[in-house]
Amino acid sequence: MSTENTQKVTETLARLADAADADAVEAIRIEALGKQGWISALLKTLGKMTPEERQEQAPAIQAMRAQVADAIAARKAELEAAELEARLATETLDLTLPAPTSPKGSVHPVSQVMDELAEIFADLGFAVATGPEIEDDWYNFSALNMPESHPARAMHDTFYFPDTAPKGGKMLLRTHTSPVQVRTMLDTVKRNPGGAPVRIIAPGRVYRSDSDATHTPMFHQVEGLVIDKDIHLGHLKWTLETFLKAFFETEDIVLRLRPSYFPFTEPSVEVDVGFEIVDGKRVLGGSGDAPGHGWMELLGSGMVNRRVIEMSGLDPDEWQGFAFGVGVDRLAMLKYGMDDLRAFFDGDTRWLNHYGFSHLDQPTLSAGVGAKA
Ligand code: PHE
Repeated sequence: MSTENTQKVTETLARLADAADADAVEAIRIEALGKQGWISALLKTLGKMTPEERQEQAPAIQAMRAQVADAIAARKAELEAAELEARLATETLDLTLPAPTSPKGSVHPVSQVMDELAEIFADLGFAVATGPEIEDDWYNFSALNMPESHPARAMHDTFYFPDTAPKGGKMLLRTHTSPVQVRTMLDTVKRNPGGAPVRIIAPGRVYRSDSDATHTPMFHQVEGLVIDKDIHLGHLKWTLETFLKAFFETEDIVLRLRPSYFPFTEPSVEVDVGFEIVDGKRVLGGSGDAPGHGWMELLGSGMVNRRVIEMSGLDPDEWQGFAFGVGVDRLAMLKYGMDDLRAFFDGDTRWLNHYGFSHLDQPTLSAGVGAKA
């Protein structure tokens, strides 16, 4: 091998030893072993040699290539090790720092309250029933003793679909959860032709064309229905009182039952609850007739009208019961202190973070109705 080439190798090795970083090493590699590199050029000359010349020169050229390639790999590894060393020396990890947080969803107050209601009523022996939100006129109105010409229909601001309903009239968005009463009774009769006791609550969405601070076109109700033999208003009052005490977590709940009118209950009872104004806010408790107190309308209820029992396939001389319907959103507002119903359905994550519940929270009353904290 020519001294010229030997010298070039020595020079290359010296430059490699001085190369400060990976870029410098790469530049040297390209110069020697790249497509246009001088060692690559030497390798190409082998092809033009006679077999004898090649036999004589090839080993030296190959050895030169290997020597330079090895030196490059070694210097690269050296630089990488040094870099890692330097990083380890300067980088520290503070294990006392809080872990990074990721965004977390929350349970909507309406869902939370529905869970609480299911829990409370489960303790009282009530099952949860459901029905469709797109409802047949017959279940929403007619079977609830509101035939087509009934004036009470006008109070419901109903959203109708153009489709004709199987049982007559139009399909509609249910305006209350009361059609679940009818569906549940019909279902019960189907399974027990002679009739059977019913104890259900039916929570769900309902729809009315209405919108202001306390009304939204979609809102939530929970229906209650008890059918049995010898059920009377006293059972209704006890059930509502027990439910409200458990829900608001206070023994200080005073109810006032006022005569009212619903086509599907007879007699019908509007239930008010006593409250007191504390720091400008309504706080439940005490008789509404006491000084500084008032009555707040809370829910509609009554003894199920015998015509509804009859239309649901039960014998009203044998079976009777009570029903009630209450706004779930309203219950949530009263218990958790929101004042604008519209914010419930805006989907503003700041509101949800403030009023939402952790999915790990158990309903507050898992210890049961009447349990003391
Ligand atoms: N469905 C009635 C409403 O939406 C409430 C109600 C339910 C009244 C059950 C009596 C019995 O206003």
